Amino acid sequence: MSKKEFLYEGKAKRIYRTDDPGKYLVEFKDEATAFDGKKRGIIEGKGVYNNLISAYFFKLLEKEGIPTHYLETISDREMLVRAVTIVPLEVVVRNVVAGSLSKRLGLPEGTALPAPIVEFYYKRDDLGDPMLNCSHIQVLGLATEEELKTMRELALRTNEVLRRHLEEKGLLLVDFKLEFGRTAEGTIILADEISPDTCRFWDRATTERLDKDRFRRDLGGVAEAYAEVWRRLVGSEEDV
Ligand code: C5P
Repeated sequence: MSKKEFLYEGKAKRIYRTDDPGKYLVEFKDEATAFDGKKRGIIEGKGVYNNLISAYFFKLLEKEGIPTHYLETISDREMLVRAVTIVPLEVVVRNVVAGSLSKRLGLPEGTALPAPIVEFYYKRDDLGDPMLNCSHIQVLGLATEEELKTMRELALRTNEVLRRHLEEKGLLLVDFKLEFGRTAEGTIILADEISPDTCRFWDRATTERLDKDRFRRDLGGVAEAYAEVWRRLVGSEEDV
């Protein structure tokens, strides 16, 4: 599979076309940004861990019947995915209060929610990714009612699969962000990545943060936290 025309560069990934029009190549970078790009840095080895961890979760979800864009891992920083058009929404699922929810509602971080909360944000850097409700999404034509229903259901099923799996590994899934894509046939599938960049993982015993909050909040040990998540998932680091 040869890498062809460069298609898109995001904050943490580059996307390329391949010689197969139905497949894209995703390359994971070490660059990290936070607070709408106002904070920037390099997390040594992050791209390698995010590639490994995302592939691990996508495979787990596929096994549970949740369709994802993942096809195969090509190298330590690259995966092959199904070509999709990204729906310009960030779908956030929360089990425990943290981050922006804590600020918005004045609830202390760490408060368990009685049921998961699903939120939609408009992927628009120039607007600071505002939160949208279902009316905004439908009236703006970002997704149909049917697609919204599918994304909400897939997000909640993803939450159940990941939450239970991580619990066995001693990790609490506090919250996470998903992105969805439309295939050429118009089917909604899970896309983007699922990694410590896009999830909050807390050690269940100590509540230590093992995710990008270490970078956002200058807590130190950022690369070590990503490595620790991978170690928890596979029980060793022999694949790195
Ligand atoms: O910042 P906030 O508390 O709303 O983030 C909720 C979850 O969504 C966190 O796990 C965070 O890592 C993720 N997120 C993300 N990309 C964004 C915003 C949030 O991955 N642009």
